[in-house]
Amino acid sequence: MDNMIIGVGIDIVKIEKIKSIIERLGKDFLERVFNQEELENISKSKMYYQRLAARFAAKEAIIKALSKKKPLALKDILILNKENGAPYCEFKKKLDVEIFLSITHIEEYAIACAIAQQK
Ligand SMILES: CC(C)(COP(=O)(O)OP(=O)(O)OC[C@H]1O[C@@H](n2cnc3c(N)ncnc32)[C@H](O)[C@@H]1OP(=O)(O)O)[C@@H](O)C(=O)NCCC(=O)NCCS
Repeated sequence: MDNMIIGVGIDIVKIEKIKSIIERLGKDFLERVFNQEELENISKSKMYYQRLAARFAAKEAIIKALSKKKPLALKDILILNKENGAPYCEFKKKLDVEIFLSITHIEEYAIACAIAQQK
């Protein structure tokens, strides 16, 4: 059925955990998880680690929301921002779903919530 909500997902990530992984593994980790467009989008940000952690949480939330549908890798998912700052999701694979996404982050944690709708 069209426009049916097919799943919801939520995830929380500790900023310190992401920061220590990146300090340890650097580029290897970043390139395993994120696409170039995503890294460029946040590279000059003051809240670099918070925003990376939030995008990691967003990908996990989307994977949860789509778990009944199709297995997805973290890099199949792109998290970007609209001009007004709102986050949105694009897929590297062709998927007939729309994702509604919300992100929040503070010094210690990043949280993301995703709702998946059949297109
Ligand atoms: C957009 C807004 C809700 C963000 O809230 P915040 O508490 O500053 O920040 P949070 O950490 O909770 O959320 C940040 C995330 O919100 C998302 N966001 C930003 N602008 C958004 C928008 N227009 N719509 C939806 N989400 C948005 C982004 O994903 C951002 O994270 P990112 O930059 O890493 O992608 C807030 O700045 C705002 O405009 N509030 C309106 C009320 C207001 O004007 N308050 C100030 C006067 S008291």
